[in-house]
Amino acid sequence: MATITHPVAGSGLFAQDTENRKLFAEHFDHQPFLFRHALNTMELFQMPALLKLARKCMDKRQQKSHFETGKPVVDGFFGNKPADLTLVQALERIGEDSNWIILKRIHEEPEYREALEAFITELSELTGIDLRRDYHDPILTIFITSPNRITPYHLDGEANFLAQVQGSKTVYVYNANDPQILTEEEKEKYWTGHLLAPRWHEELSNGQWHFDVTPGTGVFNPATFPHYVKNDNNVSVSVSVNFKRVRNDSIGAYRTNYFTRKLGLRPTVPGQSPAVDRIKSLTVGNLYTGLHATRKALRSRFGI
Ligand SMILES: [Fe+2]
Repeated sequence: MATITHPVAGSGLFAQDTENRKLFAEHFDHQPFLFRHALNTMELFQMPALLKLARKCMDKRQQKSHFETGKPVVDGFFGNKPADLTLVQALERIGEDSNWIILKRIHEEPEYREALEAFITELSELTGIDLRRDYHDPILTIFITSPNRITPYHLDGEANFLAQVQGSKTVYVYNANDPQILTEEEKEKYWTGHLLAPRWHEELSNGQWHFDVTPGTGVFNPATFPHYVKNDNNVSVSVSVNFKRVRNDSIGAYRTNYFTRKLGLRPTVPGQSPAVDRIKSLTVGNLYTGLHATRKALRSRFGI
């Protein structure tokens, strides 16, 4: 049985051998890859600790964590959040029900913050990138999934390390740079708040990459690469570490293009001209970000 440990920066929670180093250095933020780690040996991610953590999440005034139940299909909506179940109950019944639990921003708890800091130090060494300088808002999340449950096809805006700590499952990943997979219009919609924008590709149901993950392995998924997950006949626990680029002009460019296209124009595709992307990011992109932040603040303060 694996030894249960506490995180210590530089203690080799992510395998530091030549093969792992090469994968991280060559593919981080560009291409999906399977990596090895030892997060499954950490007490913080075992079920007793997760139950304790779920109780803490529930007691918070602003509960950020989420759970839902039901049996979603790959190209469908996610499940529903049942009114008669609490987060802790959903976790206690995870082996029998069809639940999906997301313990969000758990690094707000000191012991998990310590773990996240240790991960960032190691991941910076492995990728050869100062993640504290070039990336921001690192987020530690835990996904706990009932047997055989599917997480439907979707995309996320952050670079993501998904480390498996309990159970096995398969992660199917698609190339966001392939126009057959993700069109410019779909990207523009995603970055303007239409989160379920990507169209499912029945003809590519096995993904352009697929990774069978077990405790001690994990998948790196670049930002916006669509994916879905099929859990095996077991309870799955995965630890997710997300990063956002400090400077990412393409987001502002996609937002600008969304509105430009609505005017009947054909905008320049992001990535073709860094100068054009920069201008779009500093103008419409910043305006969009400002308006979005204002709307969010008004909603939380006045409910409007
Ligand atoms: Fe995802």
